[in-house]
Amino acid sequence: MTVTHNTNIMPGWKIIPALLGAVEFGSFTRYPRMGNHGIVMWRDELTQSTQNRVGLKNPGIRLAAQFLAQRWAELPPIWGLNIAVTPGVTDDAQAVQEVVESITIVLQQIQPTWFTLNISCPNTEDDPSGQQTEQKTRLLCRAAVAALHEAQIPLWVKISPDLSETQYALLLRVFQEEGVAAVIATNTLAQPAPNDASVNAGVGGGKLHTAAMTAVAHLAVAKIRQQATIDIIGCGGLLNGNSYRDFKTLGVEVVQYWSALVFRGPLAAPIIESELPDVRNEPVPTTIDRASIIAN
Ligand SMILES: Cc1cc2nc3c(=O)[nH]c(=O)nc-3n(C[C@H](O)[C@H](O)[C@H](O)COP(=O)(O)O)c2cc1C
Repeated sequence: MTVTHNTNIMPGWKIIPALLGAVEFGSFTRYPRMGNHGIVMWRDELTQSTQNRVGLKNPGIRLAAQFLAQRWAELPPIWGLNIAVTPGVTDDAQAVQEVVESITIVLQQIQPTWFTLNISCPNTEDDPSGQQTEQKTRLLCRAAVAALHEAQIPLWVKISPDLSETQYALLLRVFQEEGVAAVIATNTLAQPAPNDASVNAGVGGGKLHTAAMTAVAHLAVAKIRQQATIDIIGCGGLLNGNSYRDFKTLGVEVVQYWSALVFRGPLAAPIIESELPDVRNEPVPTTIDRASIIAN
C-alpha cells in the first residue's frame, strides 16, 4: 500500500488534538495488522463503560510514521506515539528487535514528544499479564530507552490493571532502573466479550475506574517506598470531575482517557476539568498524607 497525501489512515489525526490538546497516537505495531473480525466494540451507557477487542488493528509503524511526517507542519506541538510488540511474539529477542526497529523507523522521519511502549493489550491473543514479567519488561525498556537516548525522547510504558501489588512494585522498580520516564496505569481490563464469552475484550470507562485506581495506588506506594522519581499517569474511568479528582488525590498530575470521548463527547477534556471539585480551600495532601490515604 502506498500512502498518498490524501490517504487518511488515521481518522481524527487533526481534529482530535485541535479539540482536546495533547494526544497519543497508537498503538502501532512493527507490521500492519487487520485486528479482530466481527463486532469489536461495545458500550454500556449505564456504567459509562466501553469494551473492545479491536486487537491492535493498525497500518504498521512505517506507514504511520510516514503519514505523520507528511503532516508534520499541521500536527500539534506536543504529541506521543504508542508502539506495541506484535501480539503472539513470544521470543524476547524478536520482541526487542520489533521495538528497536519501530523506534528507528519513526525517528528517521519524525520526532514525537514521547514514546509509549504498550505492554498491556488484553484483547489480543496474549495473556494480558504475560508481557509484563520482570525479565521481558526490563529487556524491552532497556532497548527502547537506548534507542531513544540520542534523540533525548522520553519513554512511557503502559501497563495492565489487576496485577498484584508485588508485581506493580516490581515493575515500578524495573522502570525506574531502566530510565523510563513515566508509567501509564492502566490499559483496559480483560473480560469475556458480550457476544462470545470464549474471547476477551478490554473493559474501559466506569467499570475500569476502581481497578485503575487500585493500580495507581499500588504504584504510588511503591514510588514512595522506593524513593523513585518516575511519573505516574492515571488512565481508566476518567469520566468526570470526581474521577479526575480521584487520580489527583493519589498525587497523579497527568491523566489520559478514551471512554470519555464516547460518553462526554469531543470536548471531554475542558468539560471534565471544569467539573473538578473546588479544592482551593482544602489543604494540599503531602506525600506522607497520600501514602496514608493509599495505605488505608
Ligand atoms: C476502541 C479502543 C481501542 C483501544 N486501543 C488501544 C491501543 O491500541 N493501545 C493502547 O495502549 N490502548 C488502547 N486502548 C485503551 C485506552 O487507551 C485506555 O487505556 C483504556 O480505554 C482505559 O481508559 P478509559 O477508561 O478512559 O477508556 C483502546 C481503548 C478502546 C476503547
